[in-house]
Amino acid sequence: MHRPFEQASMIHRFVPASQKGLPPLLLLHGTGGDENDLIGLGERLRPGAALVSPRGLVLENGMPRFFRRHAEGVFDEEDLRLRTEDLARFVADMRERHGLGPPVAVGFSNGANIAAALLMQTPDVLAGAVLLRAMVPFAQPPAFSLDQKPVLILSGSADPIVPAQNAARLATQLRQGGANVTHETLPAGHGIGQMDLAIARGWLAEIEV
Ligand code: MLT
Repeated sequence: MHRPFEQASMIHRFVPASQKGLPPLLLLHGTGGDENDLIGLGERLRPGAALVSPRGLVLENGMPRFFRRHAEGVFDEEDLRLRTEDLARFVADMRERHGLGPPVAVGFSNGANIAAALLMQTPDVLAGAVLLRAMVPFAQPPAFSLDQKPVLILSGSADPIVPAQNAARLATQLRQGGANVTHETLPAGHGIGQMDLAIARGWLAEIEV
């Protein structure tokens, strides 16, 4: 039985800020990724920001993930709730250890899905989020209040993993929970490309957190 850990015991990379006043980015990789995957993306999205990049603790056929699933798109929600709690605790530890403000999550695929779960389950942890190819994390979302926190969802019109209605439902749930949601659907599949980068970079430069 999985038990939440007490300390920041996730393998991770930390890149200190080289510019003051920017919110740190919490980088959350996709299935099969690791703590190195999104460092380059984070550097391009918000140059100078501190980067916190943990590796998911679950292994699926040797591939790291942030929570268990029964099948593609069918999540083990009990595990998701516990892993979300763990990740919230990891973020709190990293903030204390490095003197950081609340981070903006940048999650891709499985990482975007746990970022969405963090927003819904622990609304105080993140200052905002960029969700790349995200889907709804919970069949029944908890009640939550995000108080106009900025959230950018970038979906792909030809994404074979995330149906369009699912991404639209996520946007609706987050809006109903009070987030200030921007949702764009790009002519793309599940992978992220230059358009994602350009839109996310512009959005991150504009938000006030
Ligand atoms: C998930 O399991 O989080 C989604 O199916 C996305 C993926 O990681 O393939």
